[in-house]
Amino acid sequence: MNKAGHFNNERMHLLILQLADGESHSGESLGKLLGVSRAAVWKSIKLLEDCGIEIERVRGKGYRIRQGLSLLDKEVIQQYMEQSARQFYQSIYLFSELDSTNQFLLDLSDSGQADYASVCLAERQLSGRGRRGRKWVSPFGKNLYCSVLWRFRQPLAALEGLSLVVALSIYKVLEEQGYHDIGLKWPNDILSQSKKLAGILLEVRGDLIDFCDVVIGFGINVDMPGKSGQAIDQAWTDLFSLSGKSIDRNILLAAILNQLAQDLLHFEQQGFSAFQEAWNERDGLKGQAVTLLVGQDAINGVVRGVDEKGALLLENEGVMCCYHGGEVSVRTIEETT
Ligand code: BTN
Repeated sequence: MNKAGHFNNERMHLLILQLADGESHSGESLGKLLGVSRAAVWKSIKLLEDCGIEIERVRGKGYRIRQGLSLLDKEVIQQYMEQSARQFYQSIYLFSELDSTNQFLLDLSDSGQADYASVCLAERQLSGRGRRGRKWVSPFGKNLYCSVLWRFRQPLAALEGLSLVVALSIYKVLEEQGYHDIGLKWPNDILSQSKKLAGILLEVRGDLIDFCDVVIGFGINVDMPGKSGQAIDQAWTDLFSLSGKSIDRNILLAAILNQLAQDLLHFEQQGFSAFQEAWNERDGLKGQAVTLLVGQDAINGVVRGVDEKGALLLENEGVMCCYHGGEVSVRTIEETT
């Protein structure tokens, strides 16, 4: 069940649409537009700020969002999608706010109404979740929060390696768009100089024998507002800091959905082995000394890439061992010191 949030209120919605142009708007003109007093406008502005939107007060001119907001638009996304991807994703849901895009699609699967593949997007998440019970900081209108529900017609075990494939899909698109100072960290983090840029969370439903409904959630920090960033409990970065250029989220998202549709079909037919080489070429941990945390144990070794199933290969005193996803986490030397 989605929690009621600010954007379910029509007045807030109108206000954000008006301010999205990046121009200054006086309290009086906004009041007229919304049919409320200036004091009520002021209160609504405070609520928008609580959603992570940074609003400036310009003396004598009113309120503005510096550089404006370019909101997600289903039509634009579809326009930039390839024909094959448009056929792959049978429905696209777009919300101003939601508790979690992953949760929305898990509920859809539980209700028995899921298509072969569906996309859910939100401008803001009230309870965005990350791996290991972490929360995913999801302020309004600046980053990407996207989930894809995909009906995989094989047993659960055949999903091994999928989270690496998804990380690789996103990585390849970012690489094509000129982001070169980025790296992959097993099993599915995308980092730049050890700071988190994007994260992936896979959740599964279904009978897990004949089919799995896998919900693939990814969050990309595009232009994280400074105040929201303070709530993140790990080192992070965003695309804007890496390039200094403003990013069209609709185009970026369409490119990722195109790549993902292609890679998911490829994975369904050939498994992870078809992606092993591509991963090993881009593996940001390869050759690095790391500590693996497996339950209560800490295991040291040097990363030697991944095997044909996507398991991490770790060399320790000349002996090679492989570790599968799940409850294993990797700490590099930088992270342990
Ligand atoms: C991680 O901890 O690295 C995974 C983060 C995954 C965040 C995304 S944002 C869209 C989707 N909805 C969620 O609630 N989480 C994922």
